[in-house]
Amino acid sequence: MSIAVAIDGPVGAGKSSIAKECAKRLGFIYVDTGAMYRCIGLFCDRNGVDMDDPVRVSAALSHISLDVKIKDGTQHIYLNGYDVSDEIRLPEISMAASKVSAIPAVRAFLLQLQRDMAESRDVIMDGRDIGTVVLPNATVKIYLTADAEVRAKRRYDELIAKGTAVSYESVLMDLKQRDHNDMTREIAPLKQADDAVLADTTELDFEGSCDLLVRIIKEKAEIREFFRKIVCLSMHIKYRIKLIGGDNRPYKNGIKGGYIIACNHQDYGDPPLIAAVNKAHFSFMAKIELFEKNKFFAWLITKCGAFP
Ligand code: DC
Repeated sequence: MSIAVAIDGPVGAGKSSIAKECAKRLGFIYVDTGAMYRCIGLFCDRNGVDMDDPVRVSAALSHISLDVKIKDGTQHIYLNGYDVSDEIRLPEISMAASKVSAIPAVRAFLLQLQRDMAESRDVIMDGRDIGTVVLPNATVKIYLTADAEVRAKRRYDELIAKGTAVSYESVLMDLKQRDHNDMTREIAPLKQADDAVLADTTELDFEGSCDLLVRIIKEKAEIREFFRKIVCLSMHIKYRIKLIGGDNRPYKNGIKGGYIIACNHQDYGDPPLIAAVNKAHFSFMAKIELFEKNKFFAWLITKCGAFP
Protein backbone atom coordinates (compact mmCIF):
# COMPACT_ATOMS: atom_id res chain seq x y z
CA MET A 1 0.00 0.00 0.00
CA SER A 2 1.55 3.29 -1.04
CA ILE A 3 2.21 6.17 1.31
CA ALA A 4 1.26 9.77 0.50
CA VAL A 5 2.77 12.59 2.50
CA ALA A 6 1.14 16.02 2.09
CA ILE A 7 3.21 19.04 3.06
CA ASP A 8 1.55 22.44 2.99
CA GLY A 9 2.73 25.78 4.22
CA PRO A 10 3.46 29.40 3.35
CA VAL A 11 6.11 30.80 1.01
CA GLY A 12 9.69 30.17 2.04
CA ALA A 13 8.94 27.71 4.84
CA GLY A 14 11.51 25.47 3.15
CA LYS A 15 8.90 23.03 1.89
CA SER A 16 10.59 22.10 -1.37
CA SER A 17 14.17 21.71 -0.14
CA ILE A 18 13.12 19.88 3.05
CA ALA A 19 10.59 17.70 1.22
CA LYS A 20 13.19 16.84 -1.44
CA GLU A 21 15.74 15.76 1.18
CA CYS A 22 13.13 13.76 3.15
CA ALA A 23 12.03 12.02 -0.06
CA LYS A 24 15.68 11.09 -0.73
CA ARG A 25 16.16 9.71 2.78
CA LEU A 26 12.92 7.70 2.64
CA GLY A 27 13.16 6.57 -1.00
CA PHE A 28 9.95 8.40 -1.95
CA ILE A 29 9.17 10.44 -5.09
CA TYR A 30 9.05 14.19 -4.48
CA VAL A 31 6.32 16.17 -6.27
CA ASP A 32 6.48 19.98 -6.25
CA THR A 33 3.00 21.28 -7.13
CA GLY A 34 4.08 24.93 -6.87
CA ALA A 35 6.17 24.31 -10.02
CA MET A 36 2.97 23.53 -11.94
CA TYR A 37 1.37 26.87 -10.96
CA ARG A 38 4.65 28.58 -11.81
CA CYS A 39 4.51 27.09 -15.34
CA ILE A 40 1.08 28.58 -15.90
CA GLY A 41 2.31 31.92 -14.53
CA LEU A 42 5.35 31.71 -16.82
CA PHE A 43 3.22 31.00 -19.88
CA CYS A 44 0.91 33.95 -19.12
CA ASP A 45 3.84 36.26 -18.40
CA ARG A 46 5.72 35.38 -21.59
CA ASN A 47 2.62 35.53 -23.78
CA GLY A 48 1.16 38.76 -22.44
CA VAL A 49 -1.92 37.11 -20.94
CA ASP A 50 -3.59 39.46 -18.44
CA MET A 51 -3.37 37.52 -15.17
CA ASP A 52 -5.98 39.71 -13.54
CA ASP A 53 -8.51 38.46 -16.07
CA PRO A 54 -9.66 34.91 -15.20
CA VAL A 55 -11.41 34.51 -18.58
CA ARG A 56 -8.18 35.13 -20.52
CA VAL A 57 -6.12 32.91 -18.23
CA SER A 58 -8.73 30.13 -18.51
CA ALA A 59 -8.64 30.43 -22.31
CA ALA A 60 -4.83 30.22 -22.26
CA LEU A 61 -5.00 26.82 -20.54
CA SER A 62 -5.95 25.13 -23.82
CA HIS A 63 -2.52 26.18 -25.19
CA ILE A 64 -0.63 24.73 -22.24
CA SER A 65 0.66 21.24 -21.96
CA LEU A 66 2.61 20.25 -18.85
CA ASP A 67 4.74 17.22 -18.37
CA VAL A 68 6.48 16.22 -15.19
CA LYS A 69 9.39 13.79 -15.33
CA ILE A 70 11.43 12.46 -12.48
CA LYS A 71 15.15 12.27 -13.34
CA ASP A 72 17.51 10.90 -10.66
CA GLY A 73 14.82 11.53 -8.06
CA THR A 74 14.48 15.21 -9.08
CA GLN A 75 11.41 16.69 -10.66
CA HIS A 76 11.82 18.33 -14.07
CA ILE A 77 8.89 20.23 -15.45
CA TYR A 78 8.22 20.77 -19.15
CA LEU A 79 6.01 23.52 -20.49
CA ASN A 80 4.92 22.73 -24.05
CA GLY A 81 7.92 20.46 -24.43
CA TYR A 82 10.60 22.77 -22.93
CA ASP A 83 12.30 22.11 -19.61
CA VAL A 84 11.51 25.28 -17.63
CA SER A 85 12.60 23.97 -14.21
CA ASP A 86 15.03 26.90 -13.73
CA GLU A 87 13.11 29.68 -15.45
CA ILE A 88 10.04 29.24 -13.23
CA ARG A 89 12.13 30.20 -10.18
CA LEU A 90 12.55 33.85 -11.30
CA PRO A 91 11.02 36.29 -8.76
CA GLU A 92 8.51 37.76 -11.25
CA ILE A 93 7.20 34.26 -11.93
CA SER A 94 6.60 33.70 -8.19
CA MET A 95 4.09 36.54 -8.16
CA ALA A 96 2.57 35.39 -11.46
CA ALA A 97 2.08 31.89 -9.99
CA SER A 98 0.41 33.34 -6.93
CA LYS A 99 -2.01 35.32 -9.12
CA VAL A 100 -3.02 32.50 -11.47
CA SER A 101 -3.36 30.04 -8.59
CA ALA A 102 -6.43 31.96 -7.37
CA ILE A 103 -8.31 31.17 -10.59
CA PRO A 104 -10.65 28.14 -10.21
CA ALA A 105 -10.09 26.90 -13.80
CA VAL A 106 -6.32 26.78 -13.18
CA ARG A 107 -6.76 24.74 -10.02
CA ALA A 108 -9.16 22.35 -11.76
CA PHE A 109 -6.68 22.00 -14.65
CA LEU A 110 -3.91 20.87 -12.30
CA LEU A 111 -5.88 18.78 -9.80
CA GLN A 112 -6.03 15.51 -11.74
CA LEU A 113 -2.39 15.76 -12.83
CA GLN A 114 -1.41 16.09 -9.15
CA ARG A 115 -3.62 13.20 -8.03
CA ASP A 116 -2.28 10.98 -10.83
CA MET A 117 1.26 11.61 -9.63
CA ALA A 118 0.41 10.25 -6.17
CA GLU A 119 -1.21 7.15 -7.61
CA SER A 120 0.37 3.81 -6.69
CA ARG A 121 3.76 5.08 -5.47
CA ASP A 122 5.17 6.56 -2.28
CA VAL A 123 5.21 10.34 -2.65
CA ILE A 124 5.93 13.48 -0.73
CA MET A 125 3.89 16.24 -2.34
CA ASP A 126 4.17 19.86 -1.32
CA GLY A 127 1.98 22.89 -1.98
CA ARG A 128 -0.78 24.90 -0.35
CA ASP A 129 -3.85 22.66 -0.56
CA ILE A 130 -2.41 19.15 -0.69
CA GLY A 131 -3.75 17.97 2.67
CA THR A 132 -7.03 19.85 2.32
CA VAL A 133 -7.98 19.33 -1.34
CA VAL A 134 -5.58 17.32 -3.52
CA LEU A 135 -4.92 14.35 -1.22
CA PRO A 136 -7.51 14.53 1.58
CA ASN A 137 -6.75 10.91 2.49
CA ALA A 138 -2.96 11.36 2.65
CA THR A 139 -1.26 9.03 5.11
CA VAL A 140 0.62 11.91 6.71
CA LYS A 141 -0.22 15.63 6.60
CA ILE A 142 2.27 18.24 7.72
CA TYR A 143 1.83 22.00 7.93
CA LEU A 144 5.31 23.46 7.65
CA THR A 145 5.85 27.03 8.71
CA ALA A 146 8.29 29.56 10.25
CA ASP A 147 8.18 33.26 11.18
CA ALA A 148 7.83 35.56 8.15
CA GLU A 149 11.18 37.32 8.79
CA VAL A 150 13.04 34.01 9.00
CA ARG A 151 11.38 32.76 5.81
CA ALA A 152 12.24 36.01 4.00
CA LYS A 153 15.89 35.77 5.10
CA ARG A 154 16.14 32.20 3.80
CA ARG A 155 14.55 33.15 0.46
CA TYR A 156 16.83 36.22 0.20
CA ASP A 157 19.97 34.11 0.82
CA GLU A 158 18.81 31.61 -1.79
CA LEU A 159 18.27 34.31 -4.44
CA ILE A 160 21.59 36.02 -3.68
CA ALA A 161 23.41 32.68 -3.93
CA LYS A 162 21.87 32.26 -7.40
CA GLY A 163 23.13 35.71 -8.38
CA THR A 164 19.71 37.42 -8.42
CA ALA A 165 19.93 41.09 -7.36
CA VAL A 166 17.25 41.70 -4.71
CA SER A 167 16.94 43.49 -1.37
CA TYR A 168 15.84 41.78 1.84
CA GLU A 169 13.00 44.33 2.25
CA SER A 170 11.57 43.60 -1.19
CA VAL A 171 11.73 39.84 -0.54
CA LEU A 172 9.90 40.28 2.79
CA MET A 173 7.25 42.49 1.21
CA ASP A 174 6.76 40.09 -1.68
CA LEU A 175 6.51 37.14 0.72
CA LYS A 176 3.89 38.84 2.88
CA GLN A 177 1.87 39.76 -0.21
CA ARG A 178 1.98 36.15 -1.47
CA ASP A 179 1.04 34.80 1.98
CA HIS A 180 -1.92 37.15 1.94
CA ASN A 181 -2.95 36.10 -1.60
CA ASP A 182 -2.61 32.40 -0.81
CA MET A 183 -4.47 32.56 2.52
CA THR A 184 -7.35 34.78 1.48
CA ARG A 185 -8.24 33.50 -1.99
CA GLU A 186 -11.72 32.01 -2.26
CA ILE A 187 -10.75 28.66 -3.69
CA ALA A 188 -8.49 26.22 -1.84
CA PRO A 189 -6.87 28.84 0.42
CA LEU A 190 -3.73 27.95 2.29
CA LYS A 191 -4.65 26.62 5.74
CA GLN A 192 -3.65 23.86 8.07
CA ALA A 193 -5.77 20.72 7.56
CA ASP A 194 -7.57 19.66 10.76
CA ASP A 195 -5.56 16.46 10.90
CA ALA A 196 -2.17 17.94 9.92
CA VAL A 197 0.83 18.00 12.24
CA LEU A 198 2.22 21.53 12.73
CA ALA A 199 5.99 21.74 12.17
CA ASP A 200 7.51 25.14 12.97
CA THR A 201 11.10 25.46 11.74
CA THR A 202 11.80 29.03 12.97
CA GLU A 203 14.41 27.74 15.40
CA LEU A 204 15.65 24.83 13.29
CA ASP A 205 18.32 24.62 10.64
CA PHE A 206 17.93 22.57 7.47
CA GLU A 207 19.20 19.29 8.96
CA GLY A 208 17.06 19.70 12.09
CA SER A 209 13.97 20.41 9.98
CA CYS A 210 14.56 17.29 7.84
CA ASP A 211 15.10 15.13 10.95
CA LEU A 212 11.84 16.42 12.41
CA LEU A 213 9.83 15.67 9.27
CA VAL A 214 11.33 12.24 8.72
CA ARG A 215 10.46 11.39 12.35
CA ILE A 216 6.84 12.56 11.91
CA ILE A 217 6.45 10.63 8.64
CA LYS A 218 7.93 7.40 10.01
CA GLU A 219 5.81 7.51 13.16
CA LYS A 220 2.55 8.09 11.25
CA ALA A 221 3.35 5.51 8.58
CA GLU A 222 4.25 2.91 11.20
CA ILE A 223 1.00 3.49 13.10
CA ARG A 224 -1.01 3.10 9.91
CA GLU A 225 0.84 -0.05 8.89
CA PHE A 226 0.30 -1.49 12.38
CA PHE A 227 -3.47 -0.95 12.16
CA ARG A 228 -3.61 -2.25 8.62
CA LYS A 229 -1.87 -5.47 9.66
CA ILE A 230 -4.24 -5.89 12.63
CA VAL A 231 -7.29 -5.43 10.39
CA CYS A 232 -5.93 -7.80 7.74
CA LEU A 233 -4.94 -10.43 10.27
CA SER A 234 -8.26 -10.35 12.11
CA MET A 235 -10.11 -10.58 8.79
CA HIS A 236 -8.04 -13.59 7.76
CA ILE A 237 -8.57 -15.29 11.14
CA LYS A 238 -12.28 -14.50 11.47
CA TYR A 239 -13.38 -15.23 7.92
CA ARG A 240 -10.61 -17.48 6.59
CA ILE A 241 -10.62 -15.43 3.40
CA LYS A 242 -9.97 -17.28 0.18
CA LEU A 243 -9.18 -15.13 -2.84
CA ILE A 244 -10.39 -16.47 -6.16
CA GLY A 245 -9.52 -14.77 -9.46
CA GLY A 246 -6.84 -12.52 -7.95
CA ASP A 247 -4.89 -12.68 -11.21
CA ASN A 248 -7.57 -10.54 -12.82
CA ARG A 249 -6.48 -7.54 -10.77
CA PRO A 250 -4.89 -5.06 -13.22
CA TYR A 251 -1.76 -4.32 -11.19
CA LYS A 252 -0.97 -8.03 -11.29
CA ASN A 253 -0.64 -7.71 -15.06
CA GLY A 254 1.65 -4.70 -14.92
CA ILE A 255 -1.07 -2.19 -15.82
CA LYS A 256 -0.66 1.11 -14.00
CA GLY A 257 -3.40 3.48 -12.88
CA GLY A 258 -6.57 3.21 -10.90
CA TYR A 259 -9.35 0.67 -11.20
CA ILE A 260 -12.77 0.16 -9.71
CA ILE A 261 -13.91 -2.87 -7.78
CA ALA A 262 -17.68 -3.12 -8.00
CA CYS A 263 -18.72 -5.38 -5.17
CA ASN A 264 -22.03 -6.55 -3.84
CA HIS A 265 -21.87 -6.77 -0.11
CA GLN A 266 -24.03 -8.07 2.68
CA ASP A 267 -22.20 -6.77 5.71
CA TYR A 268 -20.39 -3.60 6.86
CA GLY A 269 -17.32 -5.77 7.38
CA ASP A 270 -17.02 -6.46 3.66
CA PRO A 271 -15.12 -3.29 2.58
CA PRO A 272 -12.27 -4.00 5.06
CA LEU A 273 -12.29 -7.57 3.78
CA ILE A 274 -11.63 -6.31 0.27
CA ALA A 275 -8.81 -4.11 1.55
CA ALA A 276 -7.37 -7.10 3.40
CA VAL A 277 -6.84 -9.11 0.23
CA ASN A 278 -5.68 -6.22 -1.97
CA LYS A 279 -2.42 -4.39 -1.44
CA ALA A 280 -3.31 -1.32 -3.55
CA HIS A 281 -4.37 1.97 -2.00
CA PHE A 282 -8.18 2.11 -1.86
CA SER A 283 -10.90 4.69 -1.49
CA PHE A 284 -14.41 3.51 -0.75
CA MET A 285 -17.51 5.14 -2.16
CA ALA A 286 -20.20 4.61 0.45
CA LYS A 287 -23.82 5.64 0.78
CA ILE A 288 -24.36 9.15 2.14
CA GLU A 289 -26.38 7.95 5.16
CA LEU A 290 -23.23 6.47 6.68
CA PHE A 291 -21.75 9.97 6.91
CA GLU A 292 -24.84 11.55 8.41
CA LYS A 293 -25.86 9.35 11.34
CA ASN A 294 -22.89 9.34 13.66
CA LYS A 295 -20.05 11.88 13.61
CA PHE A 296 -17.50 9.47 15.04
CA PHE A 297 -18.39 6.75 12.54
CA ALA A 298 -18.22 9.31 9.70
CA TRP A 299 -14.76 10.38 10.88
CA LEU A 300 -13.59 6.78 11.20
CA ILE A 301 -14.66 5.65 7.74
CA THR A 302 -13.30 8.85 6.17
CA LYS A 303 -9.92 8.02 7.77
CA CYS A 304 -10.15 4.58 6.19
CA GLY A 305 -10.59 6.18 2.76
CA ALA A 306 -14.39 6.34 2.45
CA PHE A 307 -16.15 9.18 0.67
CA PRO A 308 -19.86 9.81 0.17
O1 DC B 1 5.51 26.81 -3.52
P1 DC B 1 5.74 27.85 -4.62
O2 DC B 1 6.23 29.15 -4.09
O3 DC B 1 6.60 27.32 -5.72
O4 DC B 1 4.28 28.10 -5.25
C1 DC B 1 4.05 29.09 -6.22
C2 DC B 1 2.63 29.63 -6.08
O5 DC B 1 1.71 28.62 -6.45
C3 DC B 1 2.26 30.07 -4.67
O6 DC B 1 2.19 31.47 -4.55
C4 DC B 1 0.91 29.49 -4.40
C5 DC B 1 0.61 28.57 -5.55
N1 DC B 1 0.35 27.21 -5.15
C6 DC B 1 -0.95 26.88 -4.86
O7 DC B 1 -1.82 27.74 -4.88
N2 DC B 1 -1.24 25.60 -4.54
C7 DC B 1 -0.30 24.64 -4.51
N3 DC B 1 -0.64 23.38 -4.22
C8 DC B 1 1.04 24.98 -4.78
C9 DC B 1 1.34 26.29 -5.08
